[in-house]
Amino acid sequence: MYPLDLSGKNAVVFGVANQRSIAWSIASTLAQAGARLALTYQGERLKDSVSKLADQLSDSVVLPCDVSDDQEIQSVFEALGQSMGQVDVVVHSVAFASREELQGDFSMTSRDGFRTALDISAYSLIPIARYALPLMTQGGAILTMTFHASEKVYPGYNVMGTAKAALENEVKQLAAELGQHNVRVNALSAGPLDTLAARGIGGFLDMKRVHAERSPLRRNITHDEVAQAALFLCSDLSSGVTGSVLPVDAGYHIMGV
Ligand SMILES: NC(=O)c1ccc[n+]([C@@H]2O[C@H](COP(=O)([O-])OP(=O)(O)OC[C@H]3O[C@@H](n4cnc5c(N)ncnc54)[C@H](O)[C@@H]3O)[C@@H](O)[C@H]2O)c1
Repeated sequence: MYPLDLSGKNAVVFGVANQRSIAWSIASTLAQAGARLALTYQGERLKDSVSKLADQLSDSVVLPCDVSDDQEIQSVFEALGQSMGQVDVVVHSVAFASREELQGDFSMTSRDGFRTALDISAYSLIPIARYALPLMTQGGAILTMTFHASEKVYPGYNVMGTAKAALENEVKQLAAELGQHNVRVNALSAGPLDTLAARGIGGFLDMKRVHAERSPLRRNITHDEVAQAALFLCSDLSSGVTGSVLPVDAGYHIMGV
């Protein structure tokens, strides 16, 4: 019997906007594996759509959280302490940069645009880990979502590449610190997937086509493939893995040309 059963485990997923969100694929897969889910939504605008999705999960919790506000992050974990008690899995699947920053020359990145992208997409993992830790009394897993542009240049991805590089560094520093509490911290580096966030990236469709043409598997990945790898990283199947970035990209990252 492999330790894939998440019955009795509680998971909180940040970053569901709609049914195409990677966060939703992960949340529904964790729920199928037996976990009780909490979903957060960014603002009133998304409350209804996220609540409707949450209705498909049994006994789920839905909470507001704009990750640019430390107080809102703290409130999420206070509410989870009351409703769930313990938290075992935390998924951070959140990123934002303004549309102007995701096209044109990188050298034109504005100070404000840089600050916002790094704040929402990278910094937010730190307070989430900080406030989650007191509830992760039995250890557990924290997972974030990254992209190959943290290491290689993807024109159009611009400042979000800088944010992903920072995020991956945070994964290592948090993993080193939280390991003593048996809390593992990893990132999953997904290939291009059609989502709301992806559509805002200049040249996204070219990026997707090139991945499909050049990757060893000669195709794009699916939402389900990301969710299944996330399940592995969030379950005890990966109990010896922390501080890692797992590429789920049909192998694209190994190619030179
Ligand atoms: N789609 C891809 O091709 C791809 C590839 C690799 C990595 N990723 C990463 O996956 C993650 C999820 O993105 P997605 O593609 O599912 O798109 P998405 O648009 O469905 O998800 C992005 C989420 O971030 C949330 N968000 C933005 N600003 C926020 C804020 N201030 N407070 C709280 N939440 C906020 C949005 O509400 C949304 O739910 C992101 O980190 C993204 O960079 C996506």
